[in-house]
Amino acid sequence: MNAQILQASPSALLQQSEFVLVGCRHGSESALEHRQKRAFPSFQKSYWRKGLVTFRIPAHIVSKSEWCHSGFPDDILEQLVFARIGIRSLGQITGQTEDERIAATHQLLGSVKVDAVHVWKRDPRLQIDTDSIQRKLASLHALQEELVTSGRNLILNCVVDSVDRWWIGWHVGNVQTGQWSGGYYPGQIPPHGISRAWLKLDEAIARFGIQFQSGERVCELGAAPGGACQRLLEAHLKVVGVDPATMHPQIAGHEQFTHWKKRARDVRIRDFSGFDWILTDMNIDPASTMASLERILSSHPHKPRGIVATLKLSDLSHAEELDQWCLSCASWGYQTRVQQLSTGGQEICLVAQKKNSSRN
Ligand SMILES: C[S@@+](CC[C@H](N)C(=O)[O-])C[C@H]1O[C@@H](n2cnc3c(N)ncnc32)[C@H](O)[C@@H]1O
Repeated sequence: MNAQILQASPSALLQQSEFVLVGCRHGSESALEHRQKRAFPSFQKSYWRKGLVTFRIPAHIVSKSEWCHSGFPDDILEQLVFARIGIRSLGQITGQTEDERIAATHQLLGSVKVDAVHVWKRDPRLQIDTDSIQRKLASLHALQEELVTSGRNLILNCVVDSVDRWWIGWHVGNVQTGQWSGGYYPGQIPPHGISRAWLKLDEAIARFGIQFQSGERVCELGAAPGGACQRLLEAHLKVVGVDPATMHPQIAGHEQFTHWKKRARDVRIRDFSGFDWILTDMNIDPASTMASLERILSSHPHKPRGIVATLKLSDLSHAEELDQWCLSCASWGYQTRVQQLSTGGQEICLVAQKKNSSRN
C-alpha cells in the first residue's frame, strides 16, 4: 500500500487508480482480450488470472465524467461482450489471516463510506468461503453517501483471488445488473425447472430487459428437453418447439405448447410466419445457427419483433465473427446486443429487437 493513497481524500482515492478489474467466465479471457483490442485498443492488459483480467486505462479516458461517476461505464462493459462485471481497482490486499486482510482493507479505504459490499470469487469454483469476509466488511461500513446520486449506490467490491489475496475496487451500481454481486445473476433455477436453459433464459430476460407479452407466439429452435419453453409458458406465451429430440412430458402435455419433432431446416419457411419471437438454442456451430435465422428472417415480410439466440462457441475463435453476426441482424432490421451470460456455458447470448417493436 502506498502512503500517498492513504492521505488522499475519499473521492480522490476512488478516482486515483487507472486500473480496472474485469470479471469474465473462466476460459473467456482471450476472447475478452480480442474484443478489447478491437474496441478499445488504448487499454493495456496488465495482470490476469482465470476469470479476472486487469486493464490500465489511459488517464485522459479514465478522468472522463462517465468513468468518474460509474467506476466502469456500462456501455464499455457491453462492448467487451465477455465481461460480466467491470470495477475500478483500488489495489491488492494480501495477508496471512482473514482478519489481517480485513484490517488492511479498512486501512486502504480510510474514510470512504460505501452503500453496499459485494464479495465475489474470480472463479466460482474456488473453494473459499466468502460469507465471513462479507459479514466483516459490511460491519465496517454504515450506509452513507459518497459519490452517490439518487438511485445509484457506491459498491465496494472485494474480489477473492486466492486464499490469501484479494483485490479491492468499486463501482456505482445501476438499478439492475450493477446490483448483482460479481455480475453473477442472482436468480436460481426453481426445483421444478426442467433444464439449465430455464435459468439462462431467466437471466437473459433480466439482463437485456426483454419484455415478452402474454399471448405472444414464440418458436424455439433446439427446444428439447424444454427448460426455456417452460420459462416461456410461465410467461403465458404460446410456444412451438422445433427439435428432433423428445420433449419433457410436462412441456409436451402443456396446452399452449406444440412440438414440431424435426430439424429446423425441415420446417417449411411458410410455417415460420406469424411468430412474435424466434429463440434458438441448437447445439450446432454459430454459423449454422445464423444460417437458420437467415433462412427464416430474410424471406418473411412480417418479421418477428425479437430474436434470442444462443450461439455455442465450441471454438472461442468463432467469436471473431461476432461483428458480422450483428451486421446480419442489422440487415434484417434489428438492433442487436450480445453478452456472455453468467449462467451459460461457452456460448454467447444474442438478443435482437426490431426498432420500436411493440405488439399491435
Ligand atoms: C442445448 S439443447 C437445447 C436445450 C433447450 N433449449 C432447453 O430449454 O431445454 C440443444 C438441442 O438442439 C437440438 N438440435 C440440434 N440441431 C438441431 C437442428 N438442426 N434443428 C433443431 N434442433 C436441433 C438438439 O436435439 C438438442 O435438443
